Amino acid sequence: MTDQTLVRIDPADDDGIATVTIDRQEKLNALNPEVIDELGRAFEALRHDETLRGVILTGAGEKAFVAGADIGVLAKMTPTSGVAVSRQGQEVMRAIETFPRPVLAAVGGFALGGGCELALACHLRIASENAVFGLPEVGLGIVPGYGGTVRLARLVGLGRAIELTLTGRKFDAATAQSLGLVSEVVPREELAERARGFMRAITRNGPVAVSLAMEAIYQALDSSTEEALRHEAALFGILASTDDMREGMQAFLEKRRPTFRGK
Ligand code: COA
Repeated sequence: MTDQTLVRIDPADDDGIATVTIDRQEKLNALNPEVIDELGRAFEALRHDETLRGVILTGAGEKAFVAGADIGVLAKMTPTSGVAVSRQGQEVMRAIETFPRPVLAAVGGFALGGGCELALACHLRIASENAVFGLPEVGLGIVPGYGGTVRLARLVGLGRAIELTLTGRKFDAATAQSLGLVSEVVPREELAERARGFMRAITRNGPVAVSLAMEAIYQALDSSTEEALRHEAALFGILASTDDMREGMQAFLEKRRPTFRGK
């Protein structure tokens, strides 16, 4: 990973939490093909880390999470390259959405266009008070191309998604929280610490159970109710074979904290 210059990885700490930081501050962390490529490679590398329990994804600097796809690149696109640009971004967002460990977006400023879509692809989001969200693409004569037309409606409901996408209007962190788009809003200087605390509340739980809970919830989005319930039951059965299940229940009965090993 020595050639990662725009996306930094801080490997898993003692709590199993890694941090991925997009660092292209002079362009407010805008997503050009190199950033997208490095982002994909960062998550691919983390996928193989057995000590990993969760990932915090954030943007470098005080101003932006990610201010969007790189408009300089988009301005030159042709019909053919436009499809490729969209697909490249979609694939990385999908790799994050299907990542086996929880990914929390810590949004510390602008999360516009592709930046908002990136946050939507994460499993969880918290924001600082100065964060600004929005899908302004229609104002540029395009549509959201990194999954925003799919994921925003799932998260905030059809009516608000249509309104926000068609107006392209920006909205603040408090509005994002009222829409259910972020779980918490904190002062900018507390964002990094709060992100860790938020993630620790997840990583202290059984890691296999956390992964399979995510799998069940996401798979249910694309399944019939009956299929989803059968899948849930199958995962419930799989968990009965884990050491973690025995440890979790034994610890409860012995009135102590469980020590999960992810097995
Ligand atoms: N793509 C490419 N470059 C971008 C960018 C993007 N999405 N967002 C910001 N930048 C660049 C600016 O061009 C500027 O570069 P320069 O210094 O070389 O001119 C630099 O980042 C700083 O941005 P600037 O506009 O000067 O900061 P600001 O505080 O005045 O405004 C924003 C911040 C986010 C409101 C403004 O940059 C903006 O509207 N960006 C585009 C947002 C957008 O439409 N995103 C969706 C794209 S699909």
